[in-house]
Amino acid sequence: MATAKAHTNIALVKYWGKRDNQLILPWTDSLSLTLNEFYTTTTVKFDSELSQDEFTIDQMPVDEKNFMKLTHFMDIAREKIELTQFAHVDSINHVPISAGLASSSSAFAALAGAIYEASGKPYTMTDVSRLARRGSGSATRSVFGGLAQWHKGTDDNDSFASPIQEKLDFGLEMIAILLDTKKKKISSRSGMQNTVTTSPFYHEWLSVVENDMRAMKQAIADKDVHLIGKIAESNAMRMHSLTLSADPHFTYFNADSLLAMQEVEKLRENGVECFYTMDAGPNVKVIYDCQDRDVILASLAKVFGRNQLVVSQPGPGITFMK
Ligand code: PMV
Repeated sequence: MATAKAHTNIALVKYWGKRDNQLILPWTDSLSLTLNEFYTTTTVKFDSELSQDEFTIDQMPVDEKNFMKLTHFMDIAREKIELTQFAHVDSINHVPISAGLASSSSAFAALAGAIYEASGKPYTMTDVSRLARRGSGSATRSVFGGLAQWHKGTDDNDSFASPIQEKLDFGLEMIAILLDTKKKKISSRSGMQNTVTTSPFYHEWLSVVENDMRAMKQAIADKDVHLIGKIAESNAMRMHSLTLSADPHFTYFNADSLLAMQEVEKLRENGVECFYTMDAGPNVKVIYDCQDRDVILASLAKVFGRNQLVVSQPGPGITFMK
């Protein structure tokens, strides 16, 4: 039996589109910051008495759809690790589920970590990252703390994440503006596949990411938080332009998302350098240098409730609890 804790990550250069749906192989590399605020803890216990896996999420048994998804993931793990037993899996999310706060990233990273640890077999964190990817692409990066890069790779073996800097020695920080924590209408999975096949701009996205990855890694090496934010914001908007140009077109923005983005732009006009990013949901995350935290918080708190604003520092990679 083992318990693993993994934190969510927010991509600064986004992953949007798979070239292999089965293996979850992405079209591009991506790069993210793991956060310390939002996490999942998952306990896995292999049990020779069981005739099928058993899952609870937040102490509730899962529905049929989640059961099928999770037991399929367990089958992939069993095949990789050469195990035959079914398992009890209990997962607690400290993240609003499916609201673009990347709960699936922490969930599948924690599950993959707990499976390997409970298996009693030798493994590396690269093995964990590779397995986590099969549950949810972004989970491959949550295995590591701080800044991590997912290498798109060519097959199941070489598509995994590696750390760029696990412990940051500069002031990169984020505020998540919680605008709507209900389940999102269009999952990232169906949203991204729709844009890959129908957006006339998808091909351009591949070179956008290539350029942004290069520029982002240089900005990180230079510890240039403002440039990191600037590249992340432009990368996010270009990702969202794929949804607007898809057929049928759609958007993850709501009216409050636009309001939040405008507030960040106003702060910038007033000389406070801060930037935004968004994922497959309406919540906006603000990227800034920690020395500007108070002024940004004070300004956002005039528009949003203080309880909607969650400050998050860079977080750690997977940890195991006895
Ligand atoms: O791994 P998924 O299916 O949760 O997709 C993640 C998609 C984004 O969050 C929008 C981008 C990313 O790289 O995390």
